[in-house]
Amino acid sequence: LSENNAIDFEAELDTHFGIAHTRWATHGEPSPVNSHPHRSDKNNEFVVIHNGIITNYKELRKYLVSKGYEFESETDTEVIPKLIKYLYDNRENEYVSFSTLVERVIKQLEGAFALVFKSIHFPGEAVATRRGSPLLIGVRCQYELSTEQIPVQYNCGKTNEQEKNLLNRRGSTNALHSVHDRLAVEFYLASDASAIIEHTNKVIYLEDDDVAVVMEGKLYVHRIKRKAGEDPVRVIQTLQMELQQIMKGNFKAFMQKEIFEQPESVVNTMRGRICFDSNTVILGGLSDHLKEIKRCRRLILIGCGTSYHAGVATRQILEELTELPVMVELASDFLDRITPVFRDDVCFFISQSGETADTLMALRYCKQRGALTVGVTNTVGSSICRETDCGVHINAGPEVGVASTKAYTSQFVSLIMFALMMSEDRLSMQQRRLEIINGLKKLPELIKEVLALDDQIKSIADELYHQRSLLVMGRGYNYATCLEGALKIKEITYMHSEGIMAGELKHGPLALIDKHMPVIMIIMRDACYKKLIYATISKMAYKTIELPQTVDCLQGILSVIPLQLISFHLAVLRGYDVDYPRNLAKSVTVE
Ligand code: G6P
Repeated sequence: LSENNAIDFEAELDTHFGIAHTRWATHGEPSPVNSHPHRSDKNNEFVVIHNGIITNYKELRKYLVSKGYEFESETDTEVIPKLIKYLYDNRENEYVSFSTLVERVIKQLEGAFALVFKSIHFPGEAVATRRGSPLLIGVRCQYELSTEQIPVQYNCGKTNEQEKNLLNRRGSTNALHSVHDRLAVEFYLASDASAIIEHTNKVIYLEDDDVAVVMEGKLYVHRIKRKAGEDPVRVIQTLQMELQQIMKGNFKAFMQKEIFEQPESVVNTMRGRICFDSNTVILGGLSDHLKEIKRCRRLILIGCGTSYHAGVATRQILEELTELPVMVELASDFLDRITPVFRDDVCFFISQSGETADTLMALRYCKQRGALTVGVTNTVGSSICRETDCGVHINAGPEVGVASTKAYTSQFVSLIMFALMMSEDRLSMQQRRLEIINGLKKLPELIKEVLALDDQIKSIADELYHQRSLLVMGRGYNYATCLEGALKIKEITYMHSEGIMAGELKHGPLALIDKHMPVIMIIMRDACYKKLIYATISKMAYKTIELPQTVDCLQGILSVIPLQLISFHLAVLRGYDVDYPRNLAKSVTVE
């Protein structure tokens, strides 16, 4: 690492051990100084990479600053290398091993982490540990291994002479190495098997609080103490799967995996942006333009497919909290109409891929007319990211299934956060804002509750999969759910499906209804509840799925999930390829 914490790619390296990291920026903007590895000091005495979040980093940082440490980044991670150096410098005369230092560090950490450490004081030695975030070790060996499993040691936490003796006594029995030549073994530490599968399919999955040490070509695993019933060995597993399958995990399809990822993906969208103590929301990518946005004449939300629905879903709360007129536009139609756009308009381009041609052209059209352009995308570095004036990364993680699921709920959350940020100084809106912020806090748990209804939803799909049509009806905040649910059904089950605004039922769609027509009604306890109940007499419903209740403007995040799940089950039952539906593409880069 050079002076400014940047990597010198030209430098020739003479090392057997390197650490690197690719990440979404959560704390602090993406910049060399905020990039991992983080270090204890300019001499790189200790360097660390981290996946996860340290929730008590503010307290630790304050303490370390009081001890004279100077921080160079805005990340939560930087407290870790500083803390290990502090413990190292204050070890007095006792002998402390690298792994013992790491154990002392993780005792102080709260939150989730997978960590890899390197230090000039322990040359050639790597120490890794995890709690809450995944961490695995890939093993590649040209020769036979001495063993296919590694016994866990419970002798750590000790210091001075005792530790030194133990280190000296460490023989082949408690380490993993080749029977031939220690240099013939390579170890890879990674968060996910997909990162290492091209090098090896042999992996050891570490457990929470395991501390793994790679030293002189050997791997050791420690724990502080053994808990009852705990497995005392870590076995090398052979992954039989292809890269795609590994990424899919135990799920039948990427779409299913992505549906089930939503409790985490919405957290990733909110991470580092909402302060639940002060009820403030900061979207770093918009801060510099906030004044300008507040002065605008109107907001225009533009997208295609699911991304358009995210605009429909959040329009009402945007209108309420910003008190601005909000237009929601399909990119193609917006262009077809040669819609008037003004210099004081703020135009949002919502796109998972950031590459959709219609959306991109609408962006260039608005830019030419002098409007401020804002990207809401899931793909860092995409065309929409690059060409907009500012933006929000929704941080949902890669989405593979053509039918968008987690990107929708993350776009939804991002636009809600924008509305909250816009209304921060509006006294009259504080109560409402607080209610929404509290709702966001509880959202991941509620999403889990909805996902737990999967079996119930599957049994409904069992009864419906041979139907030709499926109507989805609702109104108000949940109209977008009807549109989005019907889109999911069309996309992957090839059934005819329509999202119907319930208020329009009597103006046409009612003629479609006979006793053979299946209809899904979205009825939530909000301002439209009574209207919907009277319209349908809910007691006559053939089947009812009850969802947990949240704030009216967030309810659509929960109500869309059963429709994502039902479309998935219907498609599987009908024998279709869920992830790659016919005639559709994930990223539509043509007009
Ligand atoms: C395609 C995909 C849809 C997606 C739409 C917009 O039609 O099949 O799932 O919603 O494009 O994509 P974007 O990447 O702009 O969100």
